[in-house]
Amino acid sequence: MKYIYLDNGATSYPKAPGVAESISDYILNVGTNIGRGAYSLSYLAENIVYETRELICELFNFDKPENVIFTKNITESMNVLIKGLLKEGDHVIVSSMEHNAVMRPLNSLKDKIQYTKVQCNTLGELEIEDVKSSIKPNTKAIIMTHASNVCGTILDLEKIGQLCKKNNIFFIMDSTQTAGFLDIDFQRLNLDAMGFTGHKSLLGPQGIGGFIVSDKMVNEMNTLIEGGTGSLSDTEIQPNYMPDKFEAGTLNIPGIYGLNTSLKYLLNYGILNIREKEIYLIDRFLEGLLNIDKIRLIGHESSNCRTGVLSIDFPYDDNGIVAHELSKKYGIMTRSGLHCAPSAHKTLGTFPKGTVRFSLSHFTTLKEIEYSLASINNIVNI
Ligand SMILES: Cc1ncc(COP(=O)(O)O)c(C=O)c1O
Repeated sequence: MKYIYLDNGATSYPKAPGVAESISDYILNVGTNIGRGAYSLSYLAENIVYETRELICELFNFDKPENVIFTKNITESMNVLIKGLLKEGDHVIVSSMEHNAVMRPLNSLKDKIQYTKVQCNTLGELEIEDVKSSIKPNTKAIIMTHASNVCGTILDLEKIGQLCKKNNIFFIMDSTQTAGFLDIDFQRLNLDAMGFTGHKSLLGPQGIGGFIVSDKMVNEMNTLIEGGTGSLSDTEIQPNYMPDKFEAGTLNIPGIYGLNTSLKYLLNYGILNIREKEIYLIDRFLEGLLNIDKIRLIGHESSNCRTGVLSIDFPYDDNGIVAHELSKKYGIMTRSGLHCAPSAHKTLGTFPKGTVRFSLSHFTTLKEIEYSLASINNIVNI
């Protein structure tokens, strides 16, 4: 049986060409730590790490490589940003489409802070007026996902960025579902911080992620994790300068080597070309899905304001069993359930049943889309 991977929303596969080789090259031929040794191989690894910070800047139009911080994933990034910034009495605004990477850290602070969840409509869209009217004198930050990991709807965050700027509120974005798919411009979006994860559409390995953050926000933040940085070793106090302030302990250097290669691939290929290729596939998939009775597409029927994440409800079946059948009988890998985003499912009317989520990448082929459509057709008509 052939296997078809349509779970890129969870993690991308395949990775960008060369990622495996660069990780292997580091492990076999470099292997050193950075910031801790005065020998050439250590400097070599250090240069790759710095170059990776620069590549992140290039991809997201950001201008301070030292304010690119590496973590293990965006979940860690959002924890560091949220818990580092928010103080007793602060108020925060989020959308109802957030992933638990945002909601769980916020809820862990619920004795100290307050948040308002702005309700999106059943397509996952946000009304700017609802955000505006949620602002309070103590609103410290607006934290939002750029696109839903459940239905693929892209939120129009440029207006939210302007609102934040006007009201002197920090704007923090979860780029998990758009980095590597949309042309993200940190400056144009008026962001103060943006978390990213390396293993989804950035096409790098698992275990590497990070965030980029403005100086203005750094100055208001406490650290969440302290420890050795290889710098200021005469003191037991965490350095206050970047990136050391937020990079305690040895980094995932093999992961950074892999991410370095995937970022170069994305920059060479061009985000607009990737998007164009994926939009073509999304359109074909949408056309086919809309012609199948007995399923319900969740979210937008057009590819204009969506990513390659498509959720489907099989009203006459258990979605978990459908996902199992897709895998067992047809070799198609999807993800069913609530996708770590209960609030998004409540918004879309798919809680608690959940959906079957198909998520494409630009490596997906038209043949795979056609085969998936035929398989879905078989399932609902047998
Ligand atoms: C929108 C969104 N935010 C955050 C995450 C968490 O990503 P990670 O597991 O890489 O930390 C995900 C993962 O599915 C996501 O889709």
